[in-house]
Amino acid sequence: MQELKVSNDTSAFEVPVVLDEKGKLTDHCVRQALTMMDTHGLVVLTKLLSDEEAELGLALIRETIEDPDRSRSAFASETDNAYLRRDFCSLPSTPPVTGFAAMLCQRLEGVYSEYCGRSRPVLEIATFTSYRGSSHQYIHRDPAGVISLFAAVEDVSDQQGGTVFVPGTHLYGGSDNNHGGMARELTELFRTRCNYRIFRHNLKKLWRMRKGEEPALAPGEFWDRVFSTKWDQHQPNLLRFLLGKNSQFSLRTLGPRTVWKLYRHREAMDKLFRMVQMAPRKGTVILYRSDLLHAGPDNRSPQPRRIFGMSIARDMIEAKYWHDGYSPHPTLAANPMCLADLLDCAALPDAPNVTHRRLSA
Ligand SMILES: [Fe+2]
Repeated sequence: MQELKVSNDTSAFEVPVVLDEKGKLTDHCVRQALTMMDTHGLVVLTKLLSDEEAELGLALIRETIEDPDRSRSAFASETDNAYLRRDFCSLPSTPPVTGFAAMLCQRLEGVYSEYCGRSRPVLEIATFTSYRGSSHQYIHRDPAGVISLFAAVEDVSDQQGGTVFVPGTHLYGGSDNNHGGMARELTELFRTRCNYRIFRHNLKKLWRMRKGEEPALAPGEFWDRVFSTKWDQHQPNLLRFLLGKNSQFSLRTLGPRTVWKLYRHREAMDKLFRMVQMAPRKGTVILYRSDLLHAGPDNRSPQPRRIFGMSIARDMIEAKYWHDGYSPHPTLAANPMCLADLLDCAALPDAPNVTHRRLSA
């Protein structure tokens, strides 16, 4: 992935977690986290979960992905899902899953309460697994007005494809005025440049797989990922690229005027933006504003990459728009939950021990 120039240095976005006597982030940590979220659009909270808590999250994920009747998510790459290159599925609202989500919300209450009112809906509790051979997602924004969380329930290496972010590209009132009033244009140009490189990377990889490189392609998979007429915004589909049918990246976004601007502003883009890939250690939690540019890379290792995810709305959100980007489990859709439900339900497990361990660490 050398041609994408991805940085693996996440130190500028990290806050080492310290919990108070109630098992919540200390005020100092909350202030640091909010500054990161406002400045960069994300924060990386290291060691928010103990090893035992992360293992509990991993067990909940395993239980769901081993269930043949699991509820698969309808976004990201459906083709990758169909060929088991990815397995994105929502988690049921069982007491252990809700308790795990509640523990995260309660520990992070100081941050959540700055952005999300107590009545705002929990849009999704899910798990995102990527296997070798998946496509690198295009750089995109999720539906706006949401705070999303990723929790690393085991160590994730950069080869396993920890999420890539473009810090500082989140949207807010007046953000277009940045960079001499060219923030939006330069950001979109940068996104186009990255997505062109991702398109080439995905095509080259598929071609190598077709020529016999591991992992082997399934029957029909090459055709479905490169020439299919089916909707999928994260495959290097040549047909949909040429027809302008991919809203993330297509010939429509790569006209002669854009190519000229990509050349003209290349140095400004290099100076202003960079792609940063997360390789979170077990127990690390990432919070990000949903409109921050990001992508789920391809897994380039034989080890599956598993992540726990949760999204909570910051504002009212129209149902169809919600379902474009988030897939609530049928049990969550039948019995909706809001932030207050998670803040007020069963207390943090083991709070006194956890607190003692953190403050004495
Ligand atoms: Fe996304």
